[in-house]
Amino acid sequence: MCGIVGYTGLGFVSAEAGAVGHGAPVASERPLEVALEGLKRLEYRGYDSAGVALVGPGLEQVSFSKKAGKLGNLVADLESRPLPAATAAIGHTRWATHGGPTDTNAHPHLADGGRLAVIHNGIIENFAALRRDLSADGVPFVSDTDTEVAAQLLAKEYRASGDLTAAMAATARRLVGTFTLLAVHADDPTTVVGARHDSPLVVGLGEGENFLGSDVAAFVAHTKEALELGQDQIVTLTPTSVDVSDFDGKPAQGKRFTVDWDASAAEKGGFSSFMDKEIHDQPHAVADTLLGRTDEAGNIVLDDLRIDEAVLRAVDKIIVVACGTAAYAGHVAKYAIEHWCRIPVEVELAHEFRYRDPIVNSKTLVVAVSQSGETMDTLMAVRHAREQGAKVLAIVNTNGSTIPRESDAVLYTHAGPEIAVASTKAFLAQITAAYILGLYLAQLRGNKFPDEVAAILAELREMPRKVQTVLERSEYVRATARSMADQDKVLFLGRHVGFPVALEGALKLKELAYIHAEGFAAGELKHGPIALIDEGQPVFVIVPSPRGRDQLHSKVVSNIQEIRARGARTLVIAEDGDDEVRRYADEIFWIPQAPTLMQPLLAVVPLQIFAMALATAKGLDVDQPRNLAKSVTVE
Ligand code: M6R
Repeated sequence: MCGIVGYTGLGFVSAEAGAVGHGAPVASERPLEVALEGLKRLEYRGYDSAGVALVGPGLEQVSFSKKAGKLGNLVADLESRPLPAATAAIGHTRWATHGGPTDTNAHPHLADGGRLAVIHNGIIENFAALRRDLSADGVPFVSDTDTEVAAQLLAKEYRASGDLTAAMAATARRLVGTFTLLAVHADDPTTVVGARHDSPLVVGLGEGENFLGSDVAAFVAHTKEALELGQDQIVTLTPTSVDVSDFDGKPAQGKRFTVDWDASAAEKGGFSSFMDKEIHDQPHAVADTLLGRTDEAGNIVLDDLRIDEAVLRAVDKIIVVACGTAAYAGHVAKYAIEHWCRIPVEVELAHEFRYRDPIVNSKTLVVAVSQSGETMDTLMAVRHAREQGAKVLAIVNTNGSTIPRESDAVLYTHAGPEIAVASTKAFLAQITAAYILGLYLAQLRGNKFPDEVAAILAELREMPRKVQTVLERSEYVRATARSMADQDKVLFLGRHVGFPVALEGALKLKELAYIHAEGFAAGELKHGPIALIDEGQPVFVIVPSPRGRDQLHSKVVSNIQEIRARGARTLVIAEDGDDEVRRYADEIFWIPQAPTLMQPLLAVVPLQIFAMALATAKGLDVDQPRNLAKSVTVE
């Protein structure tokens, strides 16, 4: 949820080649600039408040500023009340858990007479008991947050040891829950200490400067060299050193990696919002996720798969665990994988999975789907599955994140950074990756002949071009959305793979435009939801290809007639050339022809654009919808 950034640097640039030089640290504006820039890139993780804390040579106390609301409020405060030059900084953008979004509850939280500052991502579950104990010792508290307890505990440990790293380890050992903590102390103005337990933290490795971030977006503008920290590790950063240890103080190691995208990928690139840009990135997201998955003979090869082929051959059940949009991608994949591999596939919301005593054993393959790779509900499902003996394969977009690290295998989607809080391009990339997995299993287990796998792959490779065509037709969708800005209820219907697309269309409209929206399986309508239809009720219907099998098309056309007979206004997504459906549609959004299983990659795009355009018409912030956060790192 919250975004965290940390920085320490020597503070000057050497004459040669603009490289940061070496020598005694000098206070400068750079720590604040890096922290604010990092917060800007991490604001998608939470935007209830923002704050920074700075330390520097000669500064008796931590200098800080924190403000409720979006980052802009903090920036305005800093303009009216500038902070001094510094050598190290920590910064925080908050998604509130304990305590409302106020200036006081904003991070950093200060302790040790204003000489220590702490920021936190996660939830400290034993904060009430710790706060009681500290209060009994006379420690004053000013906020309602769990974080302030960690700050006061760290101050107490620091007073005892005089060593910020040891104090952080001792504090971490006392905390129950999930946390990433960063701290700076005025005593040591070039050191930032971090701790992580079930919450993300990545190190950026610079020259004469080092960085910390909830994810690499915080520092990718400065360095692509990164260090992934493991669970329960402490990191101590100075401008020229990065030391990792565990919570018992034993030396530990992070895992180095190079970020494979650059800062421009996390810019709006001329679009009015990240969401618009990311919707337009979708042809690339699909194409890049398909890249490099086959050998010269055309066989699918999955390099990162560390699961033995014999184990994969023996799999007798697949369970997809995921949340939100990622779960709907899993629903789409279920149809394809069952069809291609003849393996039963269950799709389970990750937060429901481990509480229902699921039947999981060594023949179960659990597929965890997550854009961020940090969703706590999904991570917990991964851990539960592995404890039960299942193998876990992660389909994840974010390098260096926790879920792939804790899984047996990973299939990365290559959608690039997704900044808008509502997911768009990740959905298409997740479906693509799950299809690659399905085809790989079909190839491995002999369910499909090589030429059949090749034919389906060829269809998949056609999809980026077709998605592009849908994007080029978006003006009619936008105009329709603008004309519907006063709607308060919209329904979505789909059958087969169109059903999860309907669910995703409804989710997009809810989260972007704050409109009550529901997705239904078209066949379920007559079992109750049809009572919702009255005169003029807008209903989106995803119409299957008329060329498909199993009379799917005619069944959905019948469903359209049923709702029209009751006054519904039908907004139909249909394939080019589907003349039959034309008669039953009030509005038609045409998509290119594609095989049934490929259609979700096209049909969802007008729904994304519709939700974005309608929200924009209502004057809403499509990148940062209210109450949401991109990476849900609490359960
Ligand atoms: O990072 P993840 O893919 O694990 O996130 C899962 C959901 O939280 C996410 O898809 C969420 O539903 C988005 N708001 C959807 O737009």
